Order: sequence, then structure tokens, then C-alpha cells
Amino acid sequence: MSLKNDRFLKALLRQDVDVTPVWMMRQAGRYLPEYRNTRKQAGDFMKLCQTPELACEVTLQPLQRYAFDAAILFSDILTIPDAMGQGLYFAEGEGPKFRKVIRSAADVERLPDINIASELSYVTDAVSLIRKELNGSIPLIGFSGSPWTLATYMIEGGGSKDFRIAKQFMYDNPEAMHLLLEKLASAVIDYLNAQIKAGAQAVQIFDTWGGILTAQGYQEFSLAYMKKIIASLHTENEGRQVPVIVFTKNGGQWLESIADAGCHAVGLDWTTDIGVARHRIGERVALQGNMDPTMLYASPKAIRKEVESILKSFGKGNGHVFNLGHGITPEVSPENVAVFVEAVHEFSSQYHD
Ligand code: CP3
Repeated sequence: MSLKNDRFLKALLRQDVDVTPVWMMRQAGRYLPEYRNTRKQAGDFMKLCQTPELACEVTLQPLQRYAFDAAILFSDILTIPDAMGQGLYFAEGEGPKFRKVIRSAADVERLPDINIASELSYVTDAVSLIRKELNGSIPLIGFSGSPWTLATYMIEGGGSKDFRIAKQFMYDNPEAMHLLLEKLASAVIDYLNAQIKAGAQAVQIFDTWGGILTAQGYQEFSLAYMKKIIASLHTENEGRQVPVIVFTKNGGQWLESIADAGCHAVGLDWTTDIGVARHRIGERVALQGNMDPTMLYASPKAIRKEVESILKSFGKGNGHVFNLGHGITPEVSPENVAVFVEAVHEFSSQYHD
């Protein structure tokens, strides 16, 4: 089926577009009252992810309000460790938690060798359903966490302020850490390939915690595994290339090596100037980003000014997908998101011939 709006896929491959495409990390989420309603109906967050009809419904909600150029599958990065038997749950107001934690080499060795694609068939079912409902309007993004980011949650047993336990495990047991990352990389490959087979038209690897590593540690414990994943992904869906986006939060210092990892686009958080990033990585990959998500609390006037400034910094030509530098937060007013999306389309036409 041909896509009515394919500017997102084109921009990722640095092809010419009419206006800069835009989507938002966490675009389906708690800032939308309709999301809060569906979540309440589902009972809890995992139930929402595990019921394809409900996951599809919340994926489509932001698209009914805003002219986003891509949809993103509604799920979570922690479904993989959950499928590995770690017992994911969401304590009210506390974020994700695991009933089991990884604290030794034996714990890593005990992780079951499961068929991720069949364990997570609720995700691939959601992908197929969303594709059907999108009916060729805009492309669908699939995603996974990076092995390093998944490992940090599995070792800590949840989120953390300083990742002391995960980093200590890495420093004291580098071999066990590598075995864990190896197992996770293999699961991520199967998982993303299953999403692509089910209809995902681009994929993003969320390396939310890559930026807590040292420069050397980043190469060895995070980037190496993302490279391996990228090299093993299906490259086509329905005769079209499936672009891969790597988003390492706080990875601004390592853009050159991320751009060389084999991905088509690098996601930027808000701490890097996108124009400077473009000069550094040249024509190698597209860039995605990078408005400070906190900007969405500011006035419409300030939001519009910031969108203009980011577009100007990137400059003329192809290879830019507009996004926030990280996910939207729950207290943002939905009206401000409309201002943001409209400003990207309105101001960006002058940067494309
Ligand atoms: O972008 C999207 O709209 C797709 C959906 C999506 C979710 N999580 C839904 C979600 C995506 C892409 C993710 C990825 C994810 N999950 C990451 C990587 C991206 C990032 O934000 O850094 C991480 C680290 C997680 C783990 C996770 N899941 C955390 C830390 C939390 C709690 C966050 C919070 O705000 O409380 C979740 C839960 C979660 N995942 C929610 C949503 C909409 C909120 C759950 C709720 O409804 O209560």
C-alpha cells in the first residue's frame, strides 16, 4: 500500500520533502485526557500494552488532534525483560519496578532462552492492527530499548537516580554484563524484526541511559550492541527501506560514532545545538530532534520562537525530523502541542525547495 504522507520516511533517508516532518516521543500519553480515560478503562498500564485493541486506540489518539507525520506503536521498552520472566509492574506514582533483579553472573545465566517474538505476540498484533487502522495515512514507528538501557532497569529493579548498582555490576563483573547485553541484543533483534515483519515502517532504539557511561564505556557497553542490532535488522518492509533511528540521551559528545553505527538517523536531546550537530556529522545521517520538552510549558509565542530557532539552526535542505529532545511530560497542556506541531509545518516550508 502506498503512503499518503511519507515525508517522515523520506527525511530519515535524507530525501527532499515539502515541510519538515514532526512527531513527538511519548505522543500517546498522560497529557491527553482521552489517554487517561482509556488507561483507567484498561485498569493498569501493562493491560493497556497487552490488549492490542486498546494499544491501537491510544496510538491513534494524538493523531486525531494533531497533524503528526508519524505514529509510534504504543508499548513500553520494558516488555522484553518482562517476557524474560523478571515480573514488570508499575507501582502508582513510582514508575516501573521488577519483582526479580539481576545481581550476579548466575542470575544472568539463569535468564531463559525464550522466543521473544512469540512471547510478545501482543505487540506484533498491535502493530498489525495499527497499520490496518492507519490505512496508509502516515508511517508507523516500532521501537525497542537498547540492551544497555534494558540492563540498567533489570539490575536496579526499576529506575534510579545514579545507577550505582548497575554500574557497580558492570565494573565488577564485566563478563557477566557482556553476557547479559548479548542476551538482550539477541532478544532486541528478534523483537524489532518481528515488529518490522508485522508492519513497522521505521524503528527507533531508545538508549535512554547510554549517556551515564564514560566515553569508553559507552562504546563497549552500549554502542557495540546497538551496532550489532542494526546490522541484523530486516532492511525492507513492503519494498521500502526501513530506516533505523538511534536515540542516546546525553550522547551529544559521541555523535560521530553514533552516526557511524549503521543507523539512518541520530536522535538528539536538547543539550546539543542541531546546527552544530549537522556540521559535525555532515551528510552521513539524518538528525531527529530536539526541542527541550519543558518548552511546552511556555507560552505559544515562546514555543513558536523556539521552533523557528531550531529550524534556522538546522538550516536549509533535507535530513531533519522535528521532535522533542525527550518525551513529553504529563502536565503539558494539549493546546501547546497543537502550537508546536503547527509551527513546525508553518515555518519549515522556507527551508525546503
Ligand atoms: O512514544 C510513545 O508515545 C510510545 C510509547 C512509549 C512508552 N514508553 C509509553 C509509556 C515509549 C516509546 C516508551 C519508551 C520507554 N519506556 C523508555 C525510553 C524512552 C524514554 O522516555 O526515555 C523508558 C526509559 C521506558 C520505561 C518507562 N515506562 C518509565 C520510566 C515509565 C514511567 C514514566 C512515567 O512517566 O511515569 C514508563 C511507563 C510509561 N510508558 C508510560 C507511558 C505512556 C506512563 C504510564 C502510565 O500511563 O502511567
